[in-house]
Amino acid sequence: MPTVYFQTFGCQMNVADSDTIHQLLSQRGFVLSDSPDGSDIVIVNTCSVREAAEKRAKSRIAEFANKKSGGQKLWVTGCMAQRLGDALKEQIRGVDLVIGARQMERIGEVIDEALPPDESAPAVFNKSAVTDFVPVMRGCDNYCAYCIVPYVRGREHSIPYHLVETAVKEKISQGIKEITFLGQNVNSYNFEGMDFPDLLLKLAEVNGLERIRFTTSHPKDCTEKLIDAIASSNKFATHIHMPFQAGADRILALMNRKYTSGHYRGLIEMIRKKIPDADITSDILVGFPTESGAEFKETLSLVNDVRFTTAFMFAYSPREGTIAAAMKEEISKEEKHARLSELIAVQTEITRSIYQESVGKELEVLISGKQEKRDEAWMGQDKGCKRVLISCASAEAGMILKARAIKSSGMTLIAERML
Ligand code: 5AD
Ligand code: SF4
Repeated sequence: MPTVYFQTFGCQMNVADSDTIHQLLSQRGFVLSDSPDGSDIVIVNTCSVREAAEKRAKSRIAEFANKKSGGQKLWVTGCMAQRLGDALKEQIRGVDLVIGARQMERIGEVIDEALPPDESAPAVFNKSAVTDFVPVMRGCDNYCAYCIVPYVRGREHSIPYHLVETAVKEKISQGIKEITFLGQNVNSYNFEGMDFPDLLLKLAEVNGLERIRFTTSHPKDCTEKLIDAIASSNKFATHIHMPFQAGADRILALMNRKYTSGHYRGLIEMIRKKIPDADITSDILVGFPTESGAEFKETLSLVNDVRFTTAFMFAYSPREGTIAAAMKEEISKEEKHARLSELIAVQTEITRSIYQESVGKELEVLISGKQEKRDEAWMGQDKGCKRVLISCASAEAGMILKARAIKSSGMTLIAERML
């Protein structure tokens, strides 16, 4: 049987796109390989959001290109593939096919062109996962000043409801219990008047879908209707990922984020009131051009006040073609990294204490997979976003078990099931 190996960089949208390509290839008889050596196709799905991400992807692609043998094909997909196009083939000899992120909408045809369908090849797709991703929107219209995504992924548009529902039912038939709905800004979903809360409530009625997550929420579009929808059904995970990026209003305005820190704090207050045990997580960017030391402190104080369960934290990296790339960058690399280290230290301590505060609490854990190193330990996730290790039977994978957290080891809860 032909084999394919994937290396996926970047966000969950890329994970979902790799999965879609995997499904299409499996219809042609390809099976997933856990090593690039000897695979018929090696696919590198790339990210452009920071320069370091592109560098990492390029060095992996070059490594794969050097090791190619026996007719192996090397495909590059994702945001960097979109940004650089076929120039990538000249930059790195050995790349056979470049599929930009925007081609995901017609990926079936792209794969047909690359590999004419072979009717005789049996479809093979057996996934043992219990949780998966389904995009509900593509592209982004927000043009945050630092961000390359609108340029590479193109205009924002919502995927028609019936296609989302079909994708969900397909996943459920494969044994998936939990779906994370994806979009750069899910809160602006709009399909023929159906908004995001309407979409979620309708999807919550699909049989067999046991837990629903979504990401990413943009603070400018997060509404009370959305929070009420999440609070209304036990199917919704109590986790909201809502990037605030920076604490100072001047920087937020320069970033073109279209909200103030006061508005953000108001949203957090509303979420805490309606979903008291919610895990709130965020993306935070430090060292945006002209950010002063005092403005960075405003980011720290927001972090201290909100107490995110976890956060993705980044030092600003200029991206060619974005609005911010044309701004004078006044902050040295050293200063940016010093700010990032300080922020990470503060957030790590908050994460540790939030996990510690969960000890003794009742959890609803979706069991996802076995932890490789330990025979008896199974991994799962609570209704929020916390990682949980629990002892259970293999037949219980995919079930939601009631458990009590008995210990925290930093960023993982150890739990005991409740009978
Ligand atoms: N530099 C650093 N981080 C960035 N992000 C987006 N663009 C950049 C950039 N140019 C971060 C933002 C966003 C997350 C996905 O990546 O915090 O929310
Ligand atoms: Fe980038 Fe802003 Fe769009 Fe997110 S909302 S993808 S940060 S432009």
